[in-house]
Amino acid sequence: MNRTLVILKPDAVERGLVGEIVGRLEAKGLRLVAGQLRTVDEATAARHYEEHQGKPFYPELLSFITRSPSMVLVVEGPADTWRIVRTLMGPTDPAEAPPGTIRGDLGTVMTENLVHGSDSAQSAAREIAIFFPDLA
Ligand code: RTP
Ligand code: MG
Repeated sequence: MNRTLVILKPDAVERGLVGEIVGRLEAKGLRLVAGQLRTVDEATAARHYEEHQGKPFYPELLSFITRSPSMVLVVEGPADTWRIVRTLMGPTDPAEAPPGTIRGDLGTVMTENLVHGSDSAQSAAREIAIFFPDLA
């Protein structure tokens, strides 16, 4: 089996969409391995989003992801589960995400795009180790 990290971001929790989004992951056939409702602190957010440090949107990204609790999950499925999750999520900008995807159905703006999914097998391993070191 193959694992990836999913974060239901503060907007998803604030809007009461955790059940909706987890339901989509489960209905697809992915299995929950770990989950924690937590407010991501700044140091953890900086590690998680280290690839974006220095970019113009980074300060806003960090204040968004740390503003209130996120639901952080590890999900498990077949090979390249990270890719399956990214397909369910849709493109980064919800305005361009097609209907049927999480971002396309539930969001409107880039800064509040509901969900994070690891973008490669390597990212999945790195991010799971940040949030759930006991699983790594
Ligand atoms: P995520 O990491 O959150 O799953 O999103 P992603 O892979 O689809 O997009 P990524 O390129 O990793 O960007 C991380 C988050 O930064 C915000 N962003 N803003 N204004 C911009 O050009 C811009 N680009 C990215 C988004 O909120 C995105 O989710
Ligand atoms: Mg990303």
